Amino acid sequence: MTDKFVNCYFNEDCITGCQRHIPDDSIDLIVTDPPYGIKGDTLHKHYNRDEKHVIDGYVEIPLGEYGDFSQQWISQAERILRPGGSIYIVSGYTNLFYILKALRQTDLEEMNHIIWKYNFGVYTKKKYVSSHYHILYYVKPGGPRTFNTFARYGAKEKDVDGGSINYQDREDVWIINREYKPGKKKNKNELPTELLKKIIRYSSNAGDIVCDLFLGSFSTAKVARGLNRNATGFEKSTEACNYQIQQMEQLSPGFLMNDIREPEHSPPSNQGKPWTEEELSQLEQRYAELRTDSKTKKESIDILGKEFGRGYFGILNKINQFD
Ligand SMILES: C[S@@+](CC[C@H](N)C(=O)[O-])C[C@H]1O[C@@H](n2cnc3c(N)ncnc32)[C@H](O)[C@@H]1O
Repeated sequence: MTDKFVNCYFNEDCITGCQRHIPDDSIDLIVTDPPYGIKGDTLHKHYNRDEKHVIDGYVEIPLGEYGDFSQQWISQAERILRPGGSIYIVSGYTNLFYILKALRQTDLEEMNHIIWKYNFGVYTKKKYVSSHYHILYYVKPGGPRTFNTFARYGAKEKDVDGGSINYQDREDVWIINREYKPGKKKNKNELPTELLKKIIRYSSNAGDIVCDLFLGSFSTAKVARGLNRNATGFEKSTEACNYQIQQMEQLSPGFLMNDIREPEHSPPSNQGKPWTEEELSQLEQRYAELRTDSKTKKESIDILGKEFGRGYFGILNKINQFD
């Protein structure tokens, strides 16, 4: 296995590529959108799209192989996630069954089954218009899970009717429209930046490693780097890789940070609550990991504050007992 995978992107099959390049327990977050097994390479015919700017080479999986293929890549995803790491899988309805079946053959635990409603449904006349995808949010057990409850909205932020915006933002039906990029090169099924920003901000911290096994237009990697995370991943299409790796080299890490709306301040979710023995042992283990990972004491406390929902001094007091 090679040791260099952080901020590297591989023009390889993700199953053998993971085995070759990505160590066990090394990835904090996987966000991925596998081929759909429904002739995704000809999807434009259904969506009536102008294909002029779409990059060639989308690799589809024949339906007959979809079950085995899903089982194999999901098993690699489980292996490379760190204990406590999260995975979000975007899937259409047609072959969702195979993805769910493969997930059930792992130890990954379901957190949410999110419905993403979009605005580019397939036009139908004699039945309802299909206008949603499924996003399966699972976690690898055995370590602290990152979920930044107040990443986007503070606990006290209200809408015009007095409803909690934080609550609404964390409901499991998301309405996020596709971006129109007239005249720009793109992948056939490019995920919206807003969708990726939401997932990455809730389920990772700055400095974490975010992996996409099916990079397509590298949208996950671009947003991850834009939010000061590290990225890695695989894409089988050589055309897409050649073009997108060049794009990755040109972007500056953190380029999305200026657009980020900071939530109105709210106290950390667990502030003032007594620590359990289990939390203390996880805190000690995570602190040791961060320090081994060359994080300073202050950087470690900032990360742990978010992961454990505690204030700076709450973490500092406990850590001083381990040092
Ligand atoms: C649904 S698209 C991903 C779209 C991507 N999320 C985006 O926003 O652009 C699936 C991608 O997986 C690629 N692919 C198919 N089989 C693959 C494999 N075995 N390993 C890596 N990539 C593969 C396809 O070429 C396609 O670009």
